[in-house]
Amino acid sequence: MPALVIVGAQWGDEGKGKVVDIYTPYADLVVRYAGGANAGHTLVVKGEKLILHLIPSGILHNGQCVIAQGTVLDPEVLLREIDQLEARGVDCKARLKVSDRAHVVLPQHKLIDGLREAAKGDDAIGTTKRGIGPTYEDKVGRRGIRMGDLRSRARLESKLAANLAAWKPEIEAHGGELPAIEPILEAYLAMGARLGDAICDTAQIVGDAVDKDLRILLEGAQGTMLDIDHGTYPFVTSSNAVAGGACAGAGMGPTAISHVVGIAKAYATRVGGGPFPTELNDATGQRLRDVGVEYGSTTGRPRRCGWMDAVALRQAVRVNGMTEIALTKLDVLRGLDELKICVAYELDGERLIAPPYDDLERVTAVYESWPGFSEDISGCRVRADLPETAQRYIARIEELVGCKIGIISVGPDREATADVSNPFAG
Ligand code: GDP
Ligand code: IMO
Ligand code: MG
Repeated sequence: MPALVIVGAQWGDEGKGKVVDIYTPYADLVVRYAGGANAGHTLVVKGEKLILHLIPSGILHNGQCVIAQGTVLDPEVLLREIDQLEARGVDCKARLKVSDRAHVVLPQHKLIDGLREAAKGDDAIGTTKRGIGPTYEDKVGRRGIRMGDLRSRARLESKLAANLAAWKPEIEAHGGELPAIEPILEAYLAMGARLGDAICDTAQIVGDAVDKDLRILLEGAQGTMLDIDHGTYPFVTSSNAVAGGACAGAGMGPTAISHVVGIAKAYATRVGGGPFPTELNDATGQRLRDVGVEYGSTTGRPRRCGWMDAVALRQAVRVNGMTEIALTKLDVLRGLDELKICVAYELDGERLIAPPYDDLERVTAVYESWPGFSEDISGCRVRADLPETAQRYIARIEELVGCKIGIISVGPDREATADVSNPFAG
């Protein structure tokens, strides 16, 4: 049963899109299982860049793509993305299916997301303001609107009326104005009609693929440290980004998953608020941001940058059951004299080897220092060709986190990757 999960191993933006794009030729079906348009997955093919927020990063190849029921969908973003791809000659109509069970992001969700963040001031989570949290709240509150509801005027109208009534007090308490029902109703019905048969029961597609033993690539969004259960709560997103989320999110049992590849940057970044033990508020942090072009793919915000955090990564290896790590952006470390790896945290004189319950912002990172490399590695296609110091750095990370590193990415382009092989083999 060859199903493989691509999961973010840190705070998101690890390069999941690039790795999914590389692995897609080996797969029959690519499924996005969680999150929404808060994600921004970048693909670079022969120097040309494309950022996808909802559509699976496998779309540039020929196979079938699914956006499954664990996601929250803003149909406006989805249709814009479809238009962009079709304009480039990528056929989405025949190849993209969207779950009728996926919850719809509505204008009231985006509005309240922004109002709440503004009201929190310095304590803001730093959300992407894409309405993600409020949409998942409606889902678990059992008052959500699902993609299948866009097919019936009567059903959408009554659900929309109830949903707007539920948000009214909070929106007005923040001084906001409740959006009128009519324009939403018309716009969302029209978008549902445009999507047409693309909206369907995707769990059947996934289930059939499992039955036929097809190779399924499950594309995660966000990262383990942003997961609602395993992340730095409350500075997290509102879904299960971890590999376990792929089962519920796509509609398959855990027994169907054979491989879990965690994507990790060779250093660490985070965008938005919340604790970040290895953060560098200095020239080295700025250098990582400049060389790594660390600006959000969705919001354009500068990403916070820091050293590799092996404590957080070891935790991610465990909670995801990672079978392998894909290490990205190694090229960005070129030219640094020393490379630091956080091997433990210290809190009130105590040494910790796992993230603490609620005091992550108070911990001090304990570092090991390793020699850097100055060579241009962007042309390396096998690990053995990397400078010896780079190889030692990678080997030390493997040792500390207890997981082997497979693919090593040495540049943004699809081609700039070492040790690519069929991920479903072995
Ligand atoms: P995702 O959300 O995990 O798909 O990652 P993003 O696309 O948000 O951010 C990753 C960024 O790093 C994108 O701009 C990629 O083009 C870029 N990138 C990916 N791998 C590499 C790499 O190995 N080296 C460099 N320099 N850039 C990379
Ligand atoms: P990809 O898939 C990086 C962060 C936001 C914020 C927190 C909550 O591209 O890796 P939300 O809008 O989800 O309620 O915001 O989560 N966040 C991401 N950070 N990459 C992402 O996605 C993210 N999606 C959400 O910055 O801190
Ligand atoms: Mg991203």
